[in-house]
Amino acid sequence: MYSKILFPTDFSPCAEKAISYIIQLRDSGAKEVIVLHVVDDFCVEGLLKHCKMAGFEPEEFKKLVLDEMISENEEMVEGVKKILIEAGFQVSVRIEFGKPVKEICKIAEEENISVIVMGAKGKGALKSMILGSVSEGTVRNAHVPVLVIH
Ligand SMILES: Nc1ncnc2c1ncn2[C@@H]1O[C@H](COP(=O)(O)OP(=O)(O)OP(=O)(O)O)[C@@H](O)[C@H]1O
Ligand SMILES: [Mg+2]
Repeated sequence: MYSKILFPTDFSPCAEKAISYIIQLRDSGAKEVIVLHVVDDFCVEGLLKHCKMAGFEPEEFKKLVLDEMISENEEMVEGVKKILIEAGFQVSVRIEFGKPVKEICKIAEEENISVIVMGAKGKGALKSMILGSVSEGTVRNAHVPVLVIH
């Protein structure tokens, strides 16, 4: 029923908690996991406007930021991948650039995902909210079930 899982992660402790629930879904026939990290383009929007001053084209600058994010998070990505492969999943990793909610929902459709499993909170500082903006936006907009882990 839940054969293909999308695991969006910001590598926060709450997102990491989702891993044990993903592993439990193996018993209900889950076979494949896509681990997704979205580099929020909001963080570099200001820089993009001025990157020409530094001699970069915007696309070239975006690629540099992505490459930097990939190498910065490589250890964590590999760690998650290893755990899921050892649990018997077929695993692929996607690191994308954009708005996290939009990318998560787009990839869920593109990849024909059966369920999204994610943390309720992430690296954000607001501890009083029940859901962060990415988990809330995904629950509101995704066309597939979302399992949110507190
Ligand atoms: N950039 C991202 N790429 C992929 N998944 C993400 C990303 N950011 C958050 N997530 C997923 O969404 C979950 C909830 O994080 P969210 O960002 O909504 O909470 P927060 O950081 O506490 O709040 P906010 O970002 O609104 O300040 C995370 O545990 C993770 O599973
Ligand atoms: Mg966040």
